Amino acid sequence: MSHVPAIGAAVDLGKTGEPYWQPLFAGFEFSKQWIADEKPDVIFLVYNDHATAFGLDNIPTFAIGCAGEFEIADEGWGARPVPVVKGAPDLAWHIRQSVIQDDFDLTTVNEMKVDHGLTVPLTLMYGQPEAWPCLVIPFAVNVIVYPPPSGRRCYLLGKAIRRAIESFDEDLNVQVWGTGGMSHQLQGPRAGLINQEFDRKFLDDLVDNPDELANVPHIDYMRDAGSEGIELVMWLIMRGALDNKVKEVHRHYHVPASNTAVGHIILENLRQ
Ligand code: DHB
Ligand code: FE
Repeated sequence: MSHVPAIGAAVDLGKTGEPYWQPLFAGFEFSKQWIADEKPDVIFLVYNDHATAFGLDNIPTFAIGCAGEFEIADEGWGARPVPVVKGAPDLAWHIRQSVIQDDFDLTTVNEMKVDHGLTVPLTLMYGQPEAWPCLVIPFAVNVIVYPPPSGRRCYLLGKAIRRAIESFDEDLNVQVWGTGGMSHQLQGPRAGLINQEFDRKFLDDLVDNPDELANVPHIDYMRDAGSEGIELVMWLIMRGALDNKVKEVHRHYHVPASNTAVGHIILENLRQ
């Protein structure tokens, strides 16, 4: 799902019922019930930091949060009033070891503040709880400083992450989330770009045609989905962690929220 910061502000400021926001939040009603029924123990949350925890001084392509707790970042107008994020260090360290031994280099992060890229998806699914009802492993992907990882690399990494999760000793209910996107550009002459046709095809291909979708190069995202549309490569990590054939449980697409097209899809493996 998307992570537009204005969505977090709409919730925090009690504006979700306003005409501008109501149709966006309506599309998450099903999902809130679905996750209340699913009760995941841990969410492996693939997201991007927006020059909050990382910056030009430090640019990991893939960073796994192994801490027991992640504070909410102040992005310029105070930290969002949301609960602290509790990590899952044992599982995170296991995934880190497994994935690195599976030929993917990860940066290990033991202290990190998390920004809207991580908190807005949690808010969309869980609303405003006293404490988040699950543990979260933050997995930060560089999509800010060129070059981001390719879609193919993200897709293959998702497969390695699945192998890691499945080889963990404890019997946990783990969800993998891919966040960011959909089409948007926040800067330059094309600021405000949204491409509904691209987004809808991306969602269709994500469900039924992931192998081909993984081959789409950066330049196509940049040209068709805008400079920040590149955030969508993160969805391919989630998709790689699933079977080739999946069941589409729910889909929601809404334009716009702030400057961005908002997409949301829930996929499950067929054998469950
Ligand atoms: C917006 C979208 C983003 O993905 C982001 O990180 C910041 C702002 C927006 O549409 O306003
Ligand atoms: Fe963003």
